[in-house]
Amino acid sequence: MKPADDMPGRWPSLWRALKRGYAAEPRLLPVAFGLSQLAALPDALIALWLKLLADGVQGRHSALVLGAAAGLGASAAGTWFLRVSSDRIQRRFRERLTIALEAQVAQLQASVASIAHHERPEYLDRLAMLRDQVFVLDHMYWSLFTTCGWLLRLAVTVVLLVSVHPGLALVAVAALPTAFTSLWRPGVEREAQDRGASASRQARHLFDIATTASPGKEVRVTGIGDRLVQLRSEAWERSYRPVAGARWASALCHAITWAVFGASYVGAVVFVAYGLHRSAGQVLLVLAAGSRLSAYIGATVGEIGFLRGFWLEGARRLAWLEDYAASFSENATAAAPARLARGIRLEHVGFAYPGTTRRVLEDVCLELAAGSVVAIVGENGAGKSTLVKLLCRMYAPTDGRILVDDTDLAGIAADQWRGCVAGAFQDFFRFEFTARRSVGVGDVPRLDQEPAVTAAVDRAGAGDVTAGLPAGLDTQLGPTWPEGVDLSFGQWQKLALARGFMREHPLLLVLDEPTAALDAETEHALFERYAAAARSGRGSSADNGDADGRITVLVSHRFSTVRMADLIVVLDGARVVEVGSHEELVAKRGPYAELYGLQAAAYR
Ligand SMILES: Nc1ncnc2c1ncn2[C@@H]1O[C@H](COP(=O)(O)OP(=O)(O)OP(=O)(O)O)[C@@H](O)[C@H]1O
Ligand SMILES: [Mg+2]
Repeated sequence: MKPADDMPGRWPSLWRALKRGYAAEPRLLPVAFGLSQLAALPDALIALWLKLLADGVQGRHSALVLGAAAGLGASAAGTWFLRVSSDRIQRRFRERLTIALEAQVAQLQASVASIAHHERPEYLDRLAMLRDQVFVLDHMYWSLFTTCGWLLRLAVTVVLLVSVHPGLALVAVAALPTAFTSLWRPGVEREAQDRGASASRQARHLFDIATTASPGKEVRVTGIGDRLVQLRSEAWERSYRPVAGARWASALCHAITWAVFGASYVGAVVFVAYGLHRSAGQVLLVLAAGSRLSAYIGATVGEIGFLRGFWLEGARRLAWLEDYAASFSENATAAAPARLARGIRLEHVGFAYPGTTRRVLEDVCLELAAGSVVAIVGENGAGKSTLVKLLCRMYAPTDGRILVDDTDLAGIAADQWRGCVAGAFQDFFRFEFTARRSVGVGDVPRLDQEPAVTAAVDRAGAGDVTAGLPAGLDTQLGPTWPEGVDLSFGQWQKLALARGFMREHPLLLVLDEPTAALDAETEHALFERYAAAARSGRGSSADNGDADGRITVLVSHRFSTVRMADLIVVLDGARVVEVGSHEELVAKRGPYAELYGLQAAAYR
């Protein structure tokens, strides 16, 4: 799919942006617009006052002279006053709008029921631009109001010219090519920019690698610093070359059209000056209005070009994000069950990541019984994390279906199902909040409840991490914050696991290599405790899988942990190759037994 294929059109996006602005600021928007138009008028009327002044002087008509002089004075004062008040109102309108737009972008991104937009390159480019632009998207309204103001000035000026002689409308016609090239230019440049977008993202990425702390160690050890710098300048070169070419070509066309307009303006002045029965006032009007005309057309097309080429792209991206987020609220309306009676069944599930064709899961059929602990094993890239993402409904299967107690998971509203899921992911995030919050976000309603957080920390065996913090749970995490402390990878991972244990009654608990950084013994002890509690139904409610029929899905490369599971699923090359309990699989002497034998031998 080409990046721009599914983007909404410019003008519908503009209309939606206007409605959005009106919804956010129903009073300020019309006031800001009205003032900006009023502020445009006095300037355009100056040519008229000049004409009347000259007519008055020539005809020795003192009332006309006085009136025209008063008009000129009022125009000057009015221009200043209206511009100042319009600027102030606009600034207020735009500041308030920016807050509303930022909130909307954040909310839309977070509400999307899939994570595809975080993983697909063409969406990432689009979102990066939107994220960078959202702080300045309010300029679009300013740009639109300004464009309307210029159009108003232009209209007044053309009317004045035509009042002298209808033929003078030709001056405006001769200016049209400049308008066309100005409208066409940004599109061409934007296209060139889009062609270079992925190179430019690559350059930014390389810059980040070279300048941020986390890759710093590897950059130094491997000594790839110079190479990074060189790759970065090459990437910039690649992204800039098409843009520079497009700019030169469009600038040349633009210069030619402006030459055509200049000639017609000079022609008009000569025509009026040497024509019959023309007064000095009319010559003055044509001189003043004509000179304004070029400035107005320049400003109008420039502003329209800017509006189209830059701000409207932002509006389109925002409209796209809205549509994209809305496309997920389709027909998934079924409620999630309160508890699992039978369990989760996968029927011939196949999956290819959006935008790719390779099946990373193929014909997966599984029966995950309610209340069971299921382990998934397999080599790197076998599809374990992908299977976990499908179970969490981050993606829908490409083929087959997943049934939750006979209800198709695709039919259950995503936010409903997510409310039933807890867990820790392989690529966990480091929430740089206080330790309490960093764990507490695992169950937002109980975010700051100390007993809940402490219980989750204990279940995850992370008590040693929080005990070692200078202010305990109130310690700010992240070295870039005032008094913030950094943790080791394993410590961050333990907190991520604690976060996963925050929810008391998840129906599905996914643990995708949550303890890879821990030593085998600690991991073993942790899961032995967890699995025993889950099976026996004893212990605290959060350890009690039986009551809810909770299914625990555990991904691990360590067979000492895996062997405790009720059901072990062996994935190999996108397919399930073996399923059974540890004893069954060892007795089978298949791939599982072989891998288990290897690891056990290594430990002996
Ligand atoms: N976002 C993505 N877009 C496209 N392909 C992906 C994406 N994420 C993973 N893949 C591909 O899907 C396959 C399975 O990946 P997955 O992460 O599920 O493996 P895994 O079994 O969890 O491996 P590991 O043990 O390394 O965690 C891999 O070939 C990987 O390249
Ligand atoms: Mg994985």
